[in-house]
Amino acid sequence: MYIERLYAERFRNIERLELLPHPRVNILEGDNGQGKTNVLEAIVVLASLRSFRTGRLSECIEFDADQSSIASHVQRGGASTHLGVQLGRRRHRVFVDGKAASTTSSYAGRLVAVLFGPGDLALPHADPALRRRWLDRVIFNHHPIHLADLRRYERGLASRNALLKQHRRGSHIDVTLIDVYDRLVAEHGAVVSERRATFVADFDRSLAAVFGEVASPGLVSGLRYVPRGALKDAVDVEARRAVLASELAERRSTDLRLGYTTRGPHLDDVVFELNGRPARVHASQGQCRALVLAAKIAEITSLERSLGESPVLLLDDVSSELDAERNRALMAHLEALGGQVFLTTTAARHIRVASPRRVFLVRGGEVHRADEIDVEEKDDGLAPSAVEAPGAEASGPVTETGEAGVADLTAASAEMAPGAESSKPMDG
Ligand SMILES: Nc1ncnc2c1ncn2[C@@H]1O[C@H](COP(=O)(O)OP(=O)(O)OP(=O)(O)O)[C@@H](O)[C@H]1O
Ligand SMILES: [Mg+2]
Repeated sequence: MYIERLYAERFRNIERLELLPHPRVNILEGDNGQGKTNVLEAIVVLASLRSFRTGRLSECIEFDADQSSIASHVQRGGASTHLGVQLGRRRHRVFVDGKAASTTSSYAGRLVAVLFGPGDLALPHADPALRRRWLDRVIFNHHPIHLADLRRYERGLASRNALLKQHRRGSHIDVTLIDVYDRLVAEHGAVVSERRATFVADFDRSLAAVFGEVASPGLVSGLRYVPRGALKDAVDVEARRAVLASELAERRSTDLRLGYTTRGPHLDDVVFELNGRPARVHASQGQCRALVLAAKIAEITSLERSLGESPVLLLDDVSSELDAERNRALMAHLEALGGQVFLTTTAARHIRVASPRRVFLVRGGEVHRADEIDVEEKDDGLAPSAVEAPGAEASGPVTETGEAGVADLTAASAEMAPGAESSKPMDG
């Protein structure tokens, strides 16, 4: 799949953008603070209705504006789909081919984008909450249903916590209600936990294969799912449900005293390991970077396998963060993948890729085409017509509007941002 055209209006510092990307490599070049990451963010929001920078999509609206529009034509299997997102201060709307999408799941999965940014390089050391978000995002790309399951869990958990908090403040609570929420939390928590566990076990193998290629000899990677409490011994979804149900019951008096829930997948961690030890404690910075790079490449290759095509890959200023050898490994994988890539940099001349590419200059939120380099010797299967998308001028409205049946995505966008707006971190 690839983005044929990208539009944005009043999205952060981008007043107005109409971009005709290359189906292969696109380099966004510009000084610091000019809007390069904003372009990538717009693509991420279009793909997943969430941002890697904020849990509140309204923050993406230009400071002085009331709303922002982003849209794209996505080419996939010979058909083009128009995706539109309208961000408002209070609610957001999404459109597919001009029609309002009534649910996020009817929208999700049409554009799959994987972002690799400087923040990812800290993943092994980051807060468990960030690793959970990373894991859920990866799982979501493979199984879009995961977010709905997660949302159900989070809703049950939030209701249970609200009740516990009420009790802690001395208000009377209906204890039978806790029973109801316990059942919900156990049921949906089991599904979330089982999917995370299965996915991590599978992903661990893909990661190890890639890590063998990008890391120094003698180093072995690992990725381990680490839930809190007895969940770690459960083997299937039914066992997880039973374990969670009994732990919630056992710990109810503790939870009532503390005012929050002390067991469940909201406390899960996923641990990166190097030679069997947690990378957080034992790996050097360079080794951690190699781990993350391998995880990203494994994410893309496994996605490509399950989608049957390459996702759109977004690389935010990664080259400057990796050493020369890791950069070469990354670029070699990019060449082999053959999908569409957007890459930001402060100096395009430092990006060494052999693929056909287009360079765009980003200045003060404006994006202009700089040049195009087509590599003729290399047959990457791109017809010339695909390189220059026809009819670019007749691009249509940036975002479709339509009042009938317009989706209110205020809740839905929170659904797409697991844990992003939770008021209180539960780790530790
Ligand atoms: N909601 C907003 N409305 C208007 N401008 C915004 C908004 N949010 C951020 N900005 C502006 O966007 C600019 C940053 O853009 P961006 O992060 O894309 O820069 P960049 O080119 O990626 O820079 P760097 O190379 O440092 O990563 C800043 O000037 C910032 O003030
Ligand atoms: Mg940036």
